[in-house]
Amino acid sequence: MASTFKLPLFLLIACSVTLSVNGQLKTLAEAQKRYVGLATTPADLAQADYAAVADREFDCFTPENQMKWGEVEKSKGVFNFSEGDKIVTHAQAHGQKVRGHTLVWHNHLPAWLEATKWTTSNAAELKAILQNHVTKQAAHFKGKLYALDVVNEAISDNANGSLRSDLFLDALGKEYIADSFRWAHEADPDVKLYYNEYGAEGVNHKSDAMLQMIKDLQAAKVPIHGAGFQSHFSSGSVPTTLKQNLERFAALGIDVAITELDIRVKLPSTAAELEQQAKDYVTVFRACWEVPRCVGVTMWGMNDKHVAQWEADQGQGMSLLFDANNKEKPAYKAVHDFLSSQK
Ligand code: XIL
Repeated sequence: MASTFKLPLFLLIACSVTLSVNGQLKTLAEAQKRYVGLATTPADLAQADYAAVADREFDCFTPENQMKWGEVEKSKGVFNFSEGDKIVTHAQAHGQKVRGHTLVWHNHLPAWLEATKWTTSNAAELKAILQNHVTKQAAHFKGKLYALDVVNEAISDNANGSLRSDLFLDALGKEYIADSFRWAHEADPDVKLYYNEYGAEGVNHKSDAMLQMIKDLQAAKVPIHGAGFQSHFSSGSVPTTLKQNLERFAALGIDVAITELDIRVKLPSTAAELEQQAKDYVTVFRACWEVPRCVGVTMWGMNDKHVAQWEADQGQGMSLLFDANNKEKPAYKAVHDFLSSQK
C-alpha cells in the first residue's frame, strides 16, 4: 500500500514545483510588472472550458464590444451597462484588471446618433450628446477600470496623417478629442486615459501624426496617460520599428501598451507558418518588454474560433495563441518560453 502511494505523491510534488517555476503567462508577466490581457465577452466567459483558460493565463480583460457606444446607449440618453458590468464583475472575482474600450469611435455607433446629419450648425447639440455619453460612461465605471480608451482611431490613413473625417471631426473640429479626455478625467480622475490607434505600430506617417497629436494635447494640459497600439498584424509583417516607436511615445512621459494583438496567417495554414507566427509573437512581446513604460500586451481574442472580419475577408485567420479547442499553439509556447527567460 505504502509503495503504491509514494510514486503519485512524488509526481504531484514534481508537477507543482514545475508550475511554480514556470508559471502561466499572467504569472510570468506579473513577476515582470506587466500584464497579459485578453479581449473577451460575457458569452465567452460563460463557457467553463474557455473561462478556465482565460482565468489561468490572463490578468487584464478588455470587453470586445460591450462598452462601445452602440451597445451602451441604444436610445438617446438611456444607458445600459449591464454587459460591461458582467466582465468587470468576473474580472474582480478572478484578479484581472479591466481596460475600458472605448468612449469615442467612428464605428459601432447607435443608429439614432448616425441618423442625424451633424454639421457645424447643430454642433452644439452633438457636443452635449458627446459630453453626456463620455461623462455617464466614465462615471459608471469610476474606480473599476485600470485604463480607458477614450478616443479610438481618430487619425485617417491618408499619407498626410490628417484626422479622420467622421461625424465628430466634421461637426465639432479637432477639439472633440481634447474635450473627451477632459470630460473622462473629470468623471473618473484615477483611471489611465488612452488614445488607441491601428496602423501606427511602426514609425510611419500615422504614428508621426499620433505622436504630434499627443504632444499637442500635453501642451494644452489635456489629461492623457497612455498610447495604445492595436497591433492587428499579418505573420511575417511585424513592423521592424515597433520597439523604436514605442520608445518615442514613452519618451513623452506616458504609458504605452499593445492593446489588440493578433497575428493572422494564410489559410489553410502550414506548420512552417505557425512557427513563423510564433516568432512574430515573441518579436511583439520582446518589443514591449524592452520598453520600461510598456505596461502589457492584450490579445484580441483567445482562440482560433475568433476570426476577425478583415481576416475572413482575406482568407486568413488562426491568429491567436490557442487553437479552436483551446490547445496551446506554437505561438503560446514561444511566448511562454520568452517570458520565462526574462528576469
Ligand atoms: C471589433 C470586434 O472584434 C468585432 O466583434 C466587432 O464586430 C467590430 O469591432 N479596432 C478596435 C476594436 O478598436 O474595437 C475592433 O473590434 C477591432 C478593430
